[in-house]
Amino acid sequence: MPEINFTEKVRELLSKREGVHTAFVHTYGCQQNFSDGEKLEGILEQMGYTIVDSAEGAEFVIFNTCAIRENAEKRVFGNVGILKKAHEENPDMIIAVCGCMVQQEHIAKKFRQSYPFVDIVFGTHAAPRLPELVYKHITAKKRQFDIGEGEGCMAEYLPIHRDDDMKANLPIMHGCDNFCTYCVVPLVRGREKSRLPENILAEAREIVAAGYKEITLLGQNVNSYGKGLENKITFAELLREVNAIPGDFRIKFMTSHPKDCTRELLEAIRDCEKVCNYIHLPVQSGSNDVLHRMNRRYTAEHYMELVDMAREIIPDVTITSDLIVGFPGETEEDFEATMELSRKARWSMTYSFIYSKREGTKAAVMEDQIPHDVSSNRFQRLLDLQTEISHEINASFVGKTTTVLFDDEVDVGEGYISGRSYENLVVRAPRTDVQKGFAKVYLKESLGWALDGEIIKTEEI
Ligand code: SAH
Ligand code: SF4
Ligand code: F3S
Repeated sequence: MPEINFTEKVRELLSKREGVHTAFVHTYGCQQNFSDGEKLEGILEQMGYTIVDSAEGAEFVIFNTCAIRENAEKRVFGNVGILKKAHEENPDMIIAVCGCMVQQEHIAKKFRQSYPFVDIVFGTHAAPRLPELVYKHITAKKRQFDIGEGEGCMAEYLPIHRDDDMKANLPIMHGCDNFCTYCVVPLVRGREKSRLPENILAEAREIVAAGYKEITLLGQNVNSYGKGLENKITFAELLREVNAIPGDFRIKFMTSHPKDCTRELLEAIRDCEKVCNYIHLPVQSGSNDVLHRMNRRYTAEHYMELVDMAREIIPDVTITSDLIVGFPGETEEDFEATMELSRKARWSMTYSFIYSKREGTKAAVMEDQIPHDVSSNRFQRLLDLQTEISHEINASFVGKTTTVLFDDEVDVGEGYISGRSYENLVVRAPRTDVQKGFAKVYLKESLGWALDGEIIKTEEI
């Protein structure tokens, strides 16, 4: 039997209805999920939908969800609930929920039972089957559920609608094998799988040809890229190959797991002129006891060796981190070890989180869960210390010259345009002096949270 082209079938159905068919994808969570969201938008476009940037008035709304912490999930339930009325008023409206949250059985069940106005629920592995689900929903007027297996957004043939005009996401692998005891990702995303280097390089070339100025290589642990591929390749080697693509662009990557961070990688960052002098190297905790119970498989001492080695090999490198406070059993002494590591590692920025219990993880059943008031107090102390350090790091760059990609990512006040430097620092400059794109900048003054830059005109270089 020939395969049915459901994309075409939905296109036909839509063409019989009047007007423009609008769709909005609301993505939560990490950059990988945003990248998946861009593929869902690509699929929607192929079916004949026009992508819009708000749920208001949209005919089709997809919630592409994140399960990493409880508050991420709460927000989704709240935002889905808001659309109930719009759905009642427009019988043609479709509401779908997909992504990491629905890959958990208890959540899928909740949508099935308590959110009857959600028309389609599909998991992280089912994205390529979206056209079929939409077609069946429209023609049978029935709710569709698909939490089954499949390639998900890893499928090589999926179209993509890129949301940004300067920066492009490029997933190099999917899933995670690390099973940190607090983390739901391996449970909802499945096992780690690397894409073939030739597919990654072809996509990188397309991105560059389309005029993008920044490529971010994405994976939950990019340092283990290549595991399981027939022709052996390391992440450092891949980085060098992407760097060799001609063009005016730069490269970032995330996330690096400290247990797999090597000298080879740090040297590749140093040698590759397009790779930014910046590493996101999440430590999670400064206490060896906590790290052990988190199953992170490195010690605070090993982490500091990596930081020192990075600073020795890569000039002006900045390092950022993720931290969790209030992991089960975290004592005041454990927390002090995290504060101490912050002082030593001197991250330019951190993402800190209060531990959130996730069903199905090992940490969820550990004894001695920490009361919220203790965690929030520690969280605030850590934040205050980090603010001080971030300001000091910014100040240490005053007087240096760097390249900034201006793209207005951060709101930096009226009359100014923002960008990120080659070291990932937030820099601003007067709008009258520079357009979006790359510019050479003299870092004139620290504003604490950012740097004031002076554009160096090309003739002055
Ligand atoms: N793969 C990346 C992280 C992805 S999740 C890595 O290993 O570094 C992003 C961050 O969310 C993690 O680094 C961690 O700091 C945080 N996080 C994950 N699970 C969490 C939980 N249950 N509670 C609080 N923070 C969590
Ligand atoms: Fe989660 Fe750990 Fe995998 Fe990162 S490496 S996604 S924190 S299990
Ligand atoms: Fe969240 Fe899934 Fe990413 S749980 S952090 S969206 S992989």
